[in-house]
Amino acid sequence: MKGKILVTGGTGFIGSHTTVELLNAGYEVVIIDNLSNSNRDVLDGIERITGKRPVFVEGDCCCMATLEKLFEDNPGINGIIDFAASKAVGESVHKPILYYRNNLNILLNLLDLMPRYGVKGFVFSSSCTVYGEPDVNPITEAAPTKKATSPYGATKQISEDIIRDVIASGAPIKAILLRYFNPIGAHPSAEIGELPNGVPQNLVPYITQTAIGIRKELSVFGNDYDTPDGSCIRDFINIVDLAKAHVKALERMLGGGSDDNLEVFNIGTGEGVSVLQLIDVFQKATGIKLPYKIVGRREGDITKIWADPTKANTVLGWKAQVSLADTMLSAWNWQKKLRERGVM
Ligand code: UD1
Repeated sequence: MKGKILVTGGTGFIGSHTTVELLNAGYEVVIIDNLSNSNRDVLDGIERITGKRPVFVEGDCCCMATLEKLFEDNPGINGIIDFAASKAVGESVHKPILYYRNNLNILLNLLDLMPRYGVKGFVFSSSCTVYGEPDVNPITEAAPTKKATSPYGATKQISEDIIRDVIASGAPIKAILLRYFNPIGAHPSAEIGELPNGVPQNLVPYITQTAIGIRKELSVFGNDYDTPDGSCIRDFINIVDLAKAHVKALERMLGGGSDDNLEVFNIGTGEGVSVLQLIDVFQKATGIKLPYKIVGRREGDITKIWADPTKANTVLGWKAQVSLADTMLSAWNWQKKLRERGVM
C-alpha cells in the first residue's frame, strides 16, 4: 500500500476515473461524495474494474463535522484530491451564491483540516477557464489569468489564490494545481463514464445522446469564429489520461520530487481540435451519421484554447496517450452501456 488518499467528489466523472487509477497504482482510497451529481452504482463500476472497493462516505464537504468524522474514522490519510465542486458554467451564472458557497467552503474546510490531521499533499482540480481567451495558443502555465467569464470560472481562480495564500502562510502542506482542458470519454471497460444530469451542457455527452436518439440533433454553437472552420477550438483530453495525471501529481508531492510547495500544470494533449472536427472524428470512429445544425454562438464561449503540456510532460512525467478516435469510441461505448442497463 502506497498511501491513503481522500478523493472528494470521488463518484463523479473525473473522481471515479481517478479512483480507478489510484487503486490500480496501489493506493488505498477513501471517497466522500454527496451524490448530488452521481450515484452509488459508480462504486460497483470501480470495483468491477479494479477488484477493489474504496471506502465510501456519503456526505457533504461543506460540513466541517462530517469531514472531522471522516478523518477520525480513517486515520493516516496522506493526500487529498479535491473534485467536489459544482461545475455547470451556465448554472453558475444564475446561481452564483450556490457556486461560491459550495466550491469555496469545501476548499477552505479541507485546507483548514489538513495540518490538523497531518495530511501533506493536496491536488486541486483547476481548469483552463482561468486563462480566459488566450492571447497565444498553445498556452503555457506562465500565461496571465484573465477575468473569469462565469462564477464557476471565478471559483476556480479564487480557489487557486486561496491555495497560494495558504501555502505562502507557511502551512505544512504541498499542493499541485492541475488545469484541465476539456476532459472527455470514458473508461475503456465502459464500466464508468460521464453521467450528466438532465440535458447535457457539454459537447461530448450531447453528441453521444444525439447519436443514440435521446436528443434529436446537436446544436453547434457558432461557425463564424476566427478559426479555420469557424467553430470553436478546444483541447479534448481523454479522461483516463487525465486521471493518470493525478497519480503522477501525488507521487511527486508525497515522494518529495519537488522543493516547491506549490506547482501548476496544464493537463491537455497540446492539440487544438474544432467542434466540427470532433464531430467528424466521432462519425468516422463509430460509423454513425450525427444529425447536427449550426446555431448562434453560446454566450461566454471562448474562441480557441489549447494547452502547451510541456511542463507536465517533462516535470511530471505525464503525457496524453489515447487517440481522439479511441476516446470518442469510449464515450460511445459508455452511452450504449447506459442504454443496455436501462439508465437512459
Ligand atoms: C466548460 C468550461 C470549463 C469546464 C467545462 C466543464 C469555460 C470557458 N469552460 O468548457 O472550464 O471545465 O465546461 O463543464 O467556462 N458546444 C456545442 N454544442 C453543445 C455543447 C457545446 O457546439 O451542445 C461547443 C461549445 O460552444 C464549445 C465546445 O463545444 O465551443 C465545448 O463546450 P463544452 O463541452 O461545454 O466545454 P467548454 O465550454 O469548453
